[in-house]
Parts: sequence; C-alpha cells; structure tokens
Amino acid sequence: MPQDQANFQQLLQSSFPIIIVHTHDEKRVVDVLRNVVSTSFHHGPLYVWSAHSGLETSLEKPVSEWRIIGREEQAEKPEKNTTAPEDALRHIKTHINSGVVLLPDFHAYLTNPSVVRMVKEIAQDYARKPVTLVLVSHAFKVPPELQRLCAHFDISVPDSKKIRQILNDEVREWRKSNNDKKVKTDKKTLELLINNLIGLTESDSRRLIRGAIYDDSVITHSDVKEIMQAKYQMISGNGALGFEYDTASFADVGGFENLRDWLELRKSFFLDEGSLQDIDVPRGILMVGVQGCGKSLAAKSVAGSWGVPLLKFDFGALFNKYIGESEKNIREALKSAELLAPCVLWVDEIEKAISGGNDQTGTSQRILGTLLTWMSENQSRVFLVATSNNIEGLPPELIRKGRIDEIFFVDLPDKKARHEIFELHLGKRKLNLSSDCISALVDATDGFSGAEIEQAVVASRYRAHAAREEVSRGHVLAEIGQTHPLSVVRQEAIQALRHWAEGRTVRA
Ligand SMILES: Nc1ncnc2c1ncn2[C@@H]1O[C@H](COP(=O)(O)OP(=O)(O)OP(=O)(O)O)[C@@H](O)[C@H]1O
Ligand SMILES: [Mg+2]
Repeated sequence: MPQDQANFQQLLQSSFPIIIVHTHDEKRVVDVLRNVVSTSFHHGPLYVWSAHSGLETSLEKPVSEWRIIGREEQAEKPEKNTTAPEDALRHIKTHINSGVVLLPDFHAYLTNPSVVRMVKEIAQDYARKPVTLVLVSHAFKVPPELQRLCAHFDISVPDSKKIRQILNDEVREWRKSNNDKKVKTDKKTLELLINNLIGLTESDSRRLIRGAIYDDSVITHSDVKEIMQAKYQMISGNGALGFEYDTASFADVGGFENLRDWLELRKSFFLDEGSLQDIDVPRGILMVGVQGCGKSLAAKSVAGSWGVPLLKFDFGALFNKYIGESEKNIREALKSAELLAPCVLWVDEIEKAISGGNDQTGTSQRILGTLLTWMSENQSRVFLVATSNNIEGLPPELIRKGRIDEIFFVDLPDKKARHEIFELHLGKRKLNLSSDCISALVDATDGFSGAEIEQAVVASRYRAHAAREEVSRGHVLAEIGQTHPLSVVRQEAIQALRHWAEGRTVRA
C-alpha cells in the first residue's frame, strides 16, 4: 500500500474527528482517500463536498459516477440544498451516521462562528456517530476551539523516481497521439527538469511536464527555465524572496578556480537526492572580499553551473515596519526557499542585512538569530551563498564552522585571472586584441579589480570612437593610466581584509 494511503488509514483509525490536510493538491487527497475507503470498509462511505455542487458521495466509483446526495434528496425534498457550508454541516450532523467527509477549501468558512460551532458539534459527537471531517486547503488557521479535535496530515510530494515515472507516462501519452513521434531531449536536461520538479505536487508536475512537451515536442534548457519560474510563482510567499532570472555561468567569470573545483566536487551530491543518505548536504558558502572582484557574479554562477533556481534575499523587503513581522517574513521566505529546493539562496552583502533595518527594536538581532538557526538546522537542498565586502559587520556566530561549509576570500585578480577577465570583456564586445596586447594590459593592471578592468575596456571604446579608430591596446592602456584603482585608494582597508582572511579563509 502506498505510504500516504497507509498513513492516512492509520490516522483514520486513531479516531480523530477532524483531519487537516495542508496542500494545493486536492485531487491527490481525493485519490488517497478513495483508495483508503475502498480498501477498508471500516470507515464507512466517503462524501465530498464542494461549494459548487454540495455534498456528494463517492465509493469505488469514478468521480463522474458519483451519486449526488444533494440532488437526489432534492428530488424528494426540494428544499434540501447542501451547497452552503452551514447546510452541508447540518445535513452531516442529522443524516450521516458514519463515514469520511472531505471538505475542500473550508478555511474560508472557519471564520464564521456558527460554522465553527457546527464543526465542533459534529466532532464532539464522534463517539456516537463516527464521522471524520477532512479539511483540505493550502492555507489553514485552525480556530482554537477546534485545535484539540484535529490531527494534521501531510500529503507527500513525489520524489525524483515518481517524477521520472510521471515524465515517462506523459511522453508515452504524447507519442500515442502523435504517430509515435519521438520527444527530443538529452539526459542532462531531463535530470535538471526532474530536479526542478521536486517539491511540487503530482498534478503540478504533470501539468508542467505536459506544457514542456506539448509546446514543441522538444524538452530543452529553456523548458527547465520556465519550470523554475513557474515553480517560483506557485510557491513564493512574500516579497523578501526574489527570483533572479539571469543566472551566470562560470564561463563568464575570470579566476575563482578553487571555488569552481569546490563546487564541481559537490555538484552531484547536491543535485542527486539518492546520494544524500550517507553524505552531508552541502549547506553553503560565504564569499568575503575586495569590492568589484566578482563576488556577486560568482554567486550567480553557482546557480547557473548547478542548473538550479537562484533566489535572492531582499533584506529591504524583509524589514517590515511592523515589529515582529520581519521575523515572520524571514521564516516564510526560508520556507519558500525550502519548497523550491534544490536551489541557491543568495544573500548579497549580508553584513548590511544584519546591521540594517531599524535597529532600536533589536529586529536585526532577531533576524540574524532566525537565519542562524535555520542555517544550522537546514537539511534541505537549499545552498546558501552569502557575500560580503566588510568583515567588520559580520557577526562571529555567522562565520563559525558548521554553519557554512567554507569561507572564500575573493582577492584582487592575479595575472592569470586578469588575462581571463580581459579576454572575457573584450570578447563580449567583439574587440579583437592579440594575446601579446592582452599580456601588456595584464601587466599594466596589477591591483585592479575585475570591475575596474571591465570599466577600462568599456571606456576605451568611447576613446577609440572619438578618435574614429578601432579599439587598440593604446586606448585601453590610456584608460588604465587614468584609473585610480581601489587597491591604491583603499590600500589600508584591503590590507586589513587580507590580514583577516589569512588562516580563516580559502582563496576563491
Ligand atoms: N572575476 C571576474 N570575472 C569577470 N568579470 C568580473 C570579475 N570581477 C568583476 N567583474 C566584472 O565587474 C562587475 C562587478 O562585479 P561584482 O558585482 O560581481 O563584484 P562584487 O565583488 O560583488 O562587488 P561588491 O563588493 O561591490 O558587491 C561584474 O558584473 C563583472 O562584469
Ligand atoms: Mg556584489
């Protein structure tokens, strides 16, 4: 017997008069319940109510054949109508002696005292008339009067094996109605697709898979991207969590060799659910370093190279003006991130976040506490990437080992990295300079950050344009000569940063 079914059956046997199921997947609950009721007749018949058609009964028959009690009785007693929740409850109370009654979307009515009262009376009568009310909804606030009468049930979401099965089903269906034409895709894309569907309900997964196949019979990377977005839209709770549409790839980043290797080593463990059993899930990293050296870019590339959604924490949105709300917001945002797992959660300039906000109230301390607790308890595949360029603002609790896997220090780019950065930024703008020219530029930019190098390339184009010339080494060198790099302007701060980084961090 499938796990959900077995668990539900057990819950029914434990005689709770009310069972609450938090889910968007109503259909799945109906399926589970139908299976439970049809395999074991102890629980009596199953009734399903809806605001549209009132109370209906369902035994082993398919939905389309449900006998509609409301209507049937209407034939005899025309005044009988059970579409209104109070009428339905009254009917249950007086006419149903045993069974399971599914009440979808009932959260909306639990604000009505007379509805709450009737639910309570039915529940209190359970010993005499064993009727279990199953309330299904995505959003529930159980009124205190009912709390002690309720049990909660979590419907499981499909795992990767099940999603693969859904995918195969859908492909088969599609081929059946398309002269056995093949659905084009590749193994890597399929793995990404499956990974990104984890956390969604079965019916949502099915719908998204169907959408990906039916639009053009090819499953590509852009389908995966669309699925990531759709998933985010379905799940995202509050404004504190932003979906970053453009991730980067390490192909756009110069340097960061250690970080690349580090991530590559962990990629399969992070992505493959199965391998998690005996190895700890990678939790996250902190990148500390000199301004403009590519921390933000690298953070985006983590998501890009792992092929998972990138969520960015917006601390501005988190600091709600109502005290207490901001902790609730962070908790909700972290929860949404967990639902979107596997994903990368990016907290840019974390030191600002922590010392920011209206601190007279101690809000940022509490936010930090919430974040730290989450970090140490996090078992989901949410990989935290925090960036910072100011170590002074960083609380020691944050950088303690165990919370994050590694602290990477992002220093000014060395010769090799500068070469790569020049190649990248010249190439992006279709400027062809010989390798020798680039070497000369590299020698002239000792102490420059990636952003400063990029800026020199950008400005050289204006210079060349004004002189009506093609961009050459001379134009870039002239711009380099005019730049006062941060490493000179803020020499002491950078020295202090390096000093701090020694022994504490690994070079990115
Ligand atoms: N290593 C690099 N490779 C390629 N481009 C780089 C690199 N470092 C910086 N850049 C360029 O400079 C821009 C700014 O870099 P980025 O915002 O990632 O730096 P940062 O370290 O996050 O800076 P800050 O501390 O100010 O937030 C990037 O968008 C990119 O165009
Ligand atoms: Mg940045």
